[in-house]
Amino acid sequence: MGTHFPIRPASFADAAAMAAIERQCFSDPWPLEGFREVLSMPGGVGLVMTDADVPIAYFLAREILGTAEVLNLAVVPAFRGRGLGAELLDAGLAAVRRRGGTEVFLEVRASNAVAQSLYAGRGFRTEGRRRGYYRRPDEDALVLRLVMAPVRSNDGDGEPLV
Ligand SMILES: CC(C)(COP(=O)(O)OP(=O)(O)OC[C@H]1O[C@@H](n2cnc3c(N)ncnc32)[C@H](O)[C@@H]1OP(=O)(O)O)[C@@H](O)C(=O)NCCC(=O)NCCS
Repeated sequence: MGTHFPIRPASFADAAAMAAIERQCFSDPWPLEGFREVLSMPGGVGLVMTDADVPIAYFLAREILGTAEVLNLAVVPAFRGRGLGAELLDAGLAAVRRRGGTEVFLEVRASNAVAQSLYAGRGFRTEGRRRGYYRRPDEDALVLRLVMAPVRSNDGDGEPLV
């Protein structure tokens, strides 16, 4: 079910707004250049959710040859806890799937119970652990994986199948 916060593909011009959201959401934020780089890649998948045309959340992934990595998902603090992160993740996974992505990986901080709960609810399973992967603070990453059914030609914009 959609909310009144539209979701649209992110363009190169959205990189600065995405990096600004990133700085509000993470202790060790990705730099602007990282967003620009992914949004310029052939396999880059970026979405922004907006409130009155202002980005309040983003999804960023890359997909190549059927395998995708969710690079990040973030909702600004004032808009959390009302289903927007889940809605944006669903939209992002659907976009990955439409491109032909069926296997999705991501890393999440071992202490990030909220994000882990969100991903588990979407069918992600923990596949491994990367010791000392994060900085500020130093922390392990859990590696999560989701397998989605391929899009059939008559599927249209269907939800990801888990
Ligand atoms: C993770 C994040 C994107 C979730 O966005 P959100 O809009 O608050 O999440 P939603 O309201 O859609 O909730 C989705 C799920 O997250 C989990 N969740 C959300 N708020 C939670 C809370 N306070 N405590 C525990 N779980 C919570 C639940 O599993 C929830 O599903 P449910 O409502 O069916 O129980 C957001 O908290 C965020 O931007 N965090 C900082 C950045 C981050 O950690 N990103 C992920 C990096 S891998």
